[in-house]
Amino acid sequence: MDHAAEHAPGQRPSRDSVDPMVTLHVCVNCLAGEDRDSHPRAGARLYQALLEAQQRQDQPPEVHIAAAECLSNCNRGCSAALCGAGRWSYVYGDLTEAAVDDLLAGAAQYAATADGLVPWRERPTIFRKGVIARIPPVPRPA
Ligand code: FES
Repeated sequence: MDHAAEHAPGQRPSRDSVDPMVTLHVCVNCLAGEDRDSHPRAGARLYQALLEAQQRQDQPPEVHIAAAECLSNCNRGCSAALCGAGRWSYVYGDLTEAAVDDLLAGAAQYAATADGLVPWRERPTIFRKGVIARIPPVPRPA
């Protein structure tokens, strides 16, 4: 688990130096245990629920919600991946439509960081329990 900081003290990137927009990629093909013929699929319903929940928010979104075809996490769908420039990326699984508010809140916390590292205890439970993998940011040119 990523409870510890990944940067030496004083070396965390500045929030002002990164793009504030992040992307939540939502797999729209996930079945989440439902029949293959179910329509719309559980992932597509989660994607639509996220879009609708975001439209109800007053704030301009810092989170772009994008449809993805498959995140190679089919056995633990519904699945989503959170990424942003200069930030660690995360893949989450076991997501449901009931979690849209927590997903958006967690994505907003992530967007508020320069490196994608939200303190473990501050993350929504769905992010703590559903994390599948994290991927380091693309190295900056030397
Ligand atoms: S079908 Fe959703 S992760 Fe593969």
